[in-house]
Amino acid sequence: MPTRSPFRAFLAAALIATASAADLALAHGDVTPQPIDVTGLTPLKEGEWLTQNPYSGDPKAIEIGASGYNQNCARCHGLQVISGGLAPDLRYLEKGQAGDEWFIERIRHGAHKSDGSTVMPPFEGVFKQEAMWAIRSYIESMHSDE
Ligand code: HEC
Repeated sequence: MPTRSPFRAFLAAALIATASAADLALAHGDVTPQPIDVTGLTPLKEGEWLTQNPYSGDPKAIEIGASGYNQNCARCHGLQVISGGLAPDLRYLEKGQAGDEWFIERIRHGAHKSDGSTVMPPFEGVFKQEAMWAIRSYIESMHSDE
């Protein structure tokens, strides 16, 4: 039997992948998503994804989003939406629908490098759509043009 069978090579690759995922988790500290209470927001239809923020400018959504953002996104994107350089500074995300579409795409699916490794985890199935748009409302309220 050859010592380097395809299966062994596969196993080695899988082990390396697991190790780097663990390193990433360690590098970012606690990665457990923190639940977001959306009480007070108009409920949205489950499974029907909007491409425009239904809560834009809503003070309640901004308040819920601020807490949701600071607990789940700030460790990479920075407290108060001011990036320390780890991930894009979301104050510059376009206002209005163009920004909304890009936002919902990213928060649902996360972001991956061309080698398939995850640089931002997907949040679909973790947060309700209501919570996602609340975070978008907060980010938009912190928008900067500079
Ligand atoms: C583990 C770190 C990490 C966490 C946690 C994280 N992100 Fe990201 N995010 C990134 C990185 C890195 C990118 C850039 C991806 C790329 O190369 O395009 C990114 C990109 C984005 C973008 C696109 C920005 C642009 O200018 O293209 C949005 C929007 C975004 N993230 C929103 C969020 C939100 C909202 C949360 C919290 C629910 C979040 N992210 C949590 C790392 C993270």
